[in-house]
Amino acid sequence: MTYETILVETHGAVGLIRLNRPKALNALCDALMKELSQALDTFEKDDAIGAMVLTGNDRAFAAGADIKEMVGLDYMDVYLGGFISENWQRAATCRKPVIAAVAGFALGGGCELAMMCDFILAADTAKFGQPEITIGTIPGAGGTQRLARFVGKSKAMEMCLTGRMMDAVEAERSGLVSRVLPAAELVDEAIKTAAKIASLSRPVVLMAKESVGRAYETTLSEGVLFERRVFHSTFALDDRKEGMTAFAEKRPPIFRNR
Ligand code: CAA
Repeated sequence: MTYETILVETHGAVGLIRLNRPKALNALCDALMKELSQALDTFEKDDAIGAMVLTGNDRAFAAGADIKEMVGLDYMDVYLGGFISENWQRAATCRKPVIAAVAGFALGGGCELAMMCDFILAADTAKFGQPEITIGTIPGAGGTQRLARFVGKSKAMEMCLTGRMMDAVEAERSGLVSRVLPAAELVDEAIKTAAKIASLSRPVVLMAKESVGRAYETTLSEGVLFERRVFHSTFALDDRKEGMTAFAEKRPPIFRNR
């Protein structure tokens, strides 16, 4: 499949997607979100792929929804057309893990897209923000909700009300990103991390992802119950038996995704 606005590669069991509109700081136009959705669909269906990495370039992960595409729209255009609906949720609905590798700007829809991924690895150059307020609107792809859950009310409020950007150090301190890396190492480290995930039991990885995901959707007691049921269900897997047996026999496990 050939794409115009993204670049797609595979590295062993890792699918790598690079947002590729450098002249527009990877602004998330309609065509890009459609292609991103298609690329994620393709990797989801590919049994050879165990995890994905989503990245941009050195200057920008993505500087937001494409303002030039939005400028002429009115309320009925966006409401009836379901603007920022189709194709915008795909990263959040993947069953396989998706890592965001963010260097440079991750603003507006770019920050929202990174937050839809399972975790964010940030280059030391990364800058996160929800600057929509400065152009007369508010986040529209989950920014007010996910940012508040990840960094807490005070920081989310300040960022959404002022448009202030957060650098990588602050983002790590606040729990928005899992690690900060030198920019030159970001993508390699993201691929290495995704490869580690892809080397583990596929069903167990999906179960772990699903369980952590519940923490953001439900109450503590329901979440713990969900986790317990899923934990119990791992005992139906050959891979659970193999993993524990290999530990006891002091050898690496051989997972067969069964
Ligand atoms: N949409 C469309 N084009 C964009 C863009 C965006 N979100 N962000 C940057 N660009 C374009 C610029 O227009 C410019 O294009 P030209 O060369 O054709 O003029 C090019 O990318 C380079 O940008 P700048 O010259 O502005 O670069 P800079 O280094 O001076 O500034 C920046 C960088 C601070 C990120 C600045 O580009 C900026 O503020 N961008 C907009 C950020 C923003 O407001 N994002 C939120 C969008 S709304 C949204 O995302 C809603 C939602 O929730 C889904």
